[in-house]
Amino acid sequence: MRETELSVKDFILPLFVRSGKGEKRPISSMPGHFQYSVDTAVKAAGAAVQAGVPGLILFGIPEKKDAKASGAYAENGIVQKAAKAIKDKHPDLLLIADLCFCEYTDHGHCGIVKGGRVLNDPTLALAARTAASQAKAGFDVIAPSGMMDGQVAAIRRALDSSGHSDVPVLAYAAKYASAYYGPFREAAESPPSFGDRSTYQMDPANFEEALREVALDVEEGADMVMVKPALPYLDVLKAVKARFGLPTAAYQVSGEFALIKAAAANGWVDEKRIALESLTSIKRAGADFILTYYALEAAQWLA
Ligand code: PBG
Ligand code: ZN
Repeated sequence: MRETELSVKDFILPLFVRSGKGEKRPISSMPGHFQYSVDTAVKAAGAAVQAGVPGLILFGIPEKKDAKASGAYAENGIVQKAAKAIKDKHPDLLLIADLCFCEYTDHGHCGIVKGGRVLNDPTLALAARTAASQAKAGFDVIAPSGMMDGQVAAIRRALDSSGHSDVPVLAYAAKYASAYYGPFREAAESPPSFGDRSTYQMDPANFEEALREVALDVEEGADMVMVKPALPYLDVLKAVKARFGLPTAAYQVSGEFALIKAAAANGWVDEKRIALESLTSIKRAGADFILTYYALEAAQWLA
């Protein structure tokens, strides 16, 4: 009689990659997660394959950050290198590229900044360039997370005109300006140096706007859409799946993970039960797949 069954096949594991060799730097607010160098990232990818996790999403910490986010689209950029190395060893592991600039800009915003403002349209050219570079490096899916208007169209055009018409776009379509991203910003070393992301990410109070945001991305050519964070936005997730019927992802973000970890470390909740209950609820609400820092642990619990 059970209507919803979680499977390891539902999970995508996020991985953070930085330069160096033999690196495995713990991320303090995300127990069990690390900043890897390319060589250790390949090992972590192997562990995911072993566990049956079908895919990864990669985030990069570049050696140097600048105003133009050069590291995001560098031929030898950190995620480009990691993708090549992982694909080399694990060709069947799905690789998703998070496409954003906050990890690569010196100010930590998701776009080009001028006079203290994030400029939407000049950011689109960089997004196009980054998408082509990521596809060339071997990524299977490009996932723009910057919430710039028109980014999906710009990326679709860039992929098509660079010989990557077969690479799909997973749009972070309804991404909220959320406090739940706190631990991620430690992991990716990407907190904004001034202001916040509320001029481009969504107001947590808005539901109708999420549907408009998703509609725009679908019109621009998104093949899959995402709602983020997951658990606090199940109403949005359910409506997006019902309204658009596209393959729909939910991102159980760093703060959702950290909250469970911290409470469990205090002995206040049963970690396994609460993590699986959260993931089951996300799937029940309509997620076809879930980006989650629990991917490996949940795989073990389900096995
Ligand atoms: C980049 C990006 C963020 C996350 C995914 N891609 C951070 C942000 O928007 O500040 C958050 C993921 C998480 O918290 O786990 N824009
Ligand atoms: Zn960003």
